[in-house]
Amino acid sequence: MINKNYQKLQGSYLFSETAKRTAAFAQAHPDRSLIRLGIGDVTLPLVPAVQEAMHRAVDEMGKAETFRGYAPEQGYEFLREVIAEKDYRDRGCQIDGDEIFISDGAKCDCGNTQELFSQEVRIAVCDPVYPVYLDTNVMAGRTGDFCRESGRYGDVTYMPCTLENGFLPEIPEKMPELVYLCFPNNPTGSAIRKEELQKWVDAANKSGSVLLYDAAYEAYITEDGIPHSIYECDGARTCAIEFRSFSKNAGFTGVRLGFTVVPSELVRDGVSLRDLWFRRQGTKYNGTPYIVQRAGQAVYAPDGQKQIREQIGYYMKNAAVIREGLLSCGYQASGGVNSPYIWLKTPNGMTSWQFFDLLLEQAGVIGTPGSGFGPSGEGYFRLTAFGSHESTQEAVERIRRM
Ligand code: MLT
Repeated sequence: MINKNYQKLQGSYLFSETAKRTAAFAQAHPDRSLIRLGIGDVTLPLVPAVQEAMHRAVDEMGKAETFRGYAPEQGYEFLREVIAEKDYRDRGCQIDGDEIFISDGAKCDCGNTQELFSQEVRIAVCDPVYPVYLDTNVMAGRTGDFCRESGRYGDVTYMPCTLENGFLPEIPEKMPELVYLCFPNNPTGSAIRKEELQKWVDAANKSGSVLLYDAAYEAYITEDGIPHSIYECDGARTCAIEFRSFSKNAGFTGVRLGFTVVPSELVRDGVSLRDLWFRRQGTKYNGTPYIVQRAGQAVYAPDGQKQIREQIGYYMKNAAVIREGLLSCGYQASGGVNSPYIWLKTPNGMTSWQFFDLLLEQAGVIGTPGSGFGPSGEGYFRLTAFGSHESTQEAVERIRRM
């Protein structure tokens, strides 16, 4: 009766598990002040330009002459067009508004796109990896069973990302049909240079693989030479789908807005994946709310851009505080330069979960165990820059005193 693939899944979703353990600790120690640098959830409020756009849209929805019902399944043209112009054409990428699909967030899109592919295709994921890519393929029956010893599912190509390879995956000798990439990376915080990403695009075009490219953190890129979109690479239009989010750049984690780009030239078995995705969304998705799409449009206006850049700058100051604080007390830490995530090696050979418990008990700081993202994450730990300046500084001080 049930989909037995769900029984292959290990434990609960990573962030549900850390939340459960944190809640149990908080209940047992009601007097302890906890600093949450675990899940990558923003803390600053929506910027004024976004708030104003939402208020205006609510007023429109309250009047018969401007009221709107179901939104178009692909998203309103006013939002798709501004995205195509500002995020793509201004960066020299040829993307049209009708190749953009507005959604309620990148997580859902990353999880849903695998539906376009047959049960037989094989996937490659980085290890460690954002769990959504892998778990959704497990649910769909595209993997073998989980092996406790290796910490891996069968029939999946794992691409280890460790200190030794600078947290950059190697291109598999035999490219599977679907390859998930995320840059700047969640969880390691590493970024990829354009010439390196170009090699993936070339390999995918050669093998016929599709790259599923998660660029949810592109707004955090501070260095030159790091692509904000995979379409900055030549030939990406024939091999790549890109996911984007408003959660991390504009604080929409509780508002819900993202989009997926499926270029019209992306064709497999003679079928346009753009058309398949359009068909899928038409059947299963009823459109992102008008108020939310107007909020998204406001992000691209000059005042919206200025305000969100300030927010990103605020978080990146936290990233520097964490990174430099950890390095100065002897931790091996990376990330935090083109990303809001800092990835550190646990001290004294501790496992990731042992360090989670130690940090919680001794410092009252909550992070995310690296092993929760895959076996190569064992012995690593992730902290996020999404707290307040004060709590971030306090967290680093507490870690220093441990
Ligand atoms: C994370 O902490 O990795 C993020 O919150 C994941 C997400 O955006 O779903």
